[in-house]
Amino acid sequence: MDFSAILLTDKAFIMLSKNHCTGLLVKKGLKGRDLLSTDDLSREEMETVFNLARDFKLAKGIGRHERILEGKTLGLVFEWASTRTRLGFEVAMAQLGGYSIYMPIETTMAAMGEPMKDTSRVLSRLVDAIAIRPFKHETVTELAQHADVPVINCSSSKGHPTQGLGELYTILEKKGRLEGLKLAYLGMTRGLFHELILGCSKVGMDMAAAYPEVGGNAYTPDMSVVKRAYEIAEETGSKIVLTHNLLEAIKDADVVYACTLLRSCLTGEKTVEEEKINVKAYQVDSEVLKHAKKDAIFMAPGPTYRNVEVTEEVLEGPHSVVWDQVENALHVKKAILALLLA
Ligand code: CP
Repeated sequence: MDFSAILLTDKAFIMLSKNHCTGLLVKKGLKGRDLLSTDDLSREEMETVFNLARDFKLAKGIGRHERILEGKTLGLVFEWASTRTRLGFEVAMAQLGGYSIYMPIETTMAAMGEPMKDTSRVLSRLVDAIAIRPFKHETVTELAQHADVPVINCSSSKGHPTQGLGELYTILEKKGRLEGLKLAYLGMTRGLFHELILGCSKVGMDMAAAYPEVGGNAYTPDMSVVKRAYEIAEETGSKIVLTHNLLEAIKDADVVYACTLLRSCLTGEKTVEEEKINVKAYQVDSEVLKHAKKDAIFMAPGPTYRNVEVTEEVLEGPHSVVWDQVENALHVKKAILALLLA
């Protein structure tokens, strides 16, 4: 790989492969912006994120960490549990020379009734960016509306852009391209579903989603997002299919993506809708996987529940790239932080 050093600040250099230098120029356009949805980025900006993530991964491979966020602080305001997203952002900030502060919301004055708009202004005076994982999507939008620093949505009912971008980066790494591929999405139709339908349509990938026909928040796509994805697909030529039939979705897929099927796996509370779900009808096992392309990859965002959305055999089998997803999401987070903050 042919590297060139690009001066980002008077103290820090970042290594970039020469053919990615053009992408870096887009950086200026991302600085200071929020990332609440994949739709906040143009296709070119998404490509910049992927290129930079690749360079960060290569740099890490030769033992380099570019300390381009020295002196910068990220506040992580989380209302519910996380392993990958929280740790990914904390490690990303550390590797880039910055600092992160984890703030479970119940330990803040927001839990004592301080309005979110005031919390937002307090944080804006103290940190350089805010990463938030709320119960309600409205909390993200209210925080962003009143913040003077970039706000990153770390999983709301409507979106989880850093995870969605991480997944597309892993597909690009494994398949060498995105355009023209087919992703089969299985599971709940919450935040990540919205990111993937937007992301796939933007990069020219087909997406077929199969989800239980039981209604309820977790199994009813946000039609404003679906409509937007169809608009984008009109321009890029992507095909979008929504179905309740697993085999229809999975047929000839290049990527089989199993999201959590039961919200109770995350919250511990079983809903009325979940009582009606035949889990086996949406489970990826070896027989089901045969309907995808022979070289299909299996992906899952985690946490992954064995024998719910996927069998042990598939999760641990040769098609599975789930642990690579975890690492790649780190490099994508570094790219996003660098582009928003450096
Ligand atoms: N996929 C994901 O968001 O993982 P965490 O819930 O562990 O952050």
